[in-house]
Amino acid sequence: MKKTTIALLSAAVIFGLNGCGNDTPSSSAPKTYSKTPAEVYAQSCKKCHGEHAEGNPKKKGPALNDRQAGELELDLYDVKNGGTNQSSGTEHDIMEHNMQKLMEKGYDYDPKAMAEYIEKSFYKREVSEAH
Ligand code: HEC
Repeated sequence: MKKTTIALLSAAVIFGLNGCGNDTPSSSAPKTYSKTPAEVYAQSCKKCHGEHAEGNPKKKGPALNDRQAGELELDLYDVKNGGTNQSSGTEHDIMEHNMQKLMEKGYDYDPKAMAEYIEKSFYKREVSEAH
């Protein structure tokens, strides 16, 4: 009986802390994702957004390599949270739907890490027009 009480109390403490949200900035423990941005991109984004994020007209996937990480991060947040693109004001109905499906399959990612990955790997990389 006593053990149960303790267990319940500690559970309450844990949930209580979580409920408070904004934990201390220093220990903003990042959510862990089962896949790295590189894996998620290769396995689930590439087919619609292109090998080098240059876009894939056949799948109507727009290029993602034409903006820097900061802006891309906002777009990725919007896509995940059903928001409106803050810079262009466009909606992402298709992509939001895709993203829900992808997250169900475990293709979740940290928007910041994904944005940095895409910028680092693909930003302004000319694919079809060689210099
Ligand atoms: C089934 C095809 C498909 C897949 C898979 C897909 N996308 Fe998309 N994505 C689209 C289409 C089509 C659009 C444009 C329409 C829209 O925004 O709803 C889009 C739009 C976007 C946008 C907004 C672009 C902009 O210009 O604002 C982002 C960001 C994005 N996708 C990221 C991703 C990421 C990251 C993945 C992998 C986790 C992914 N997409 C997987 C088809 C896809």
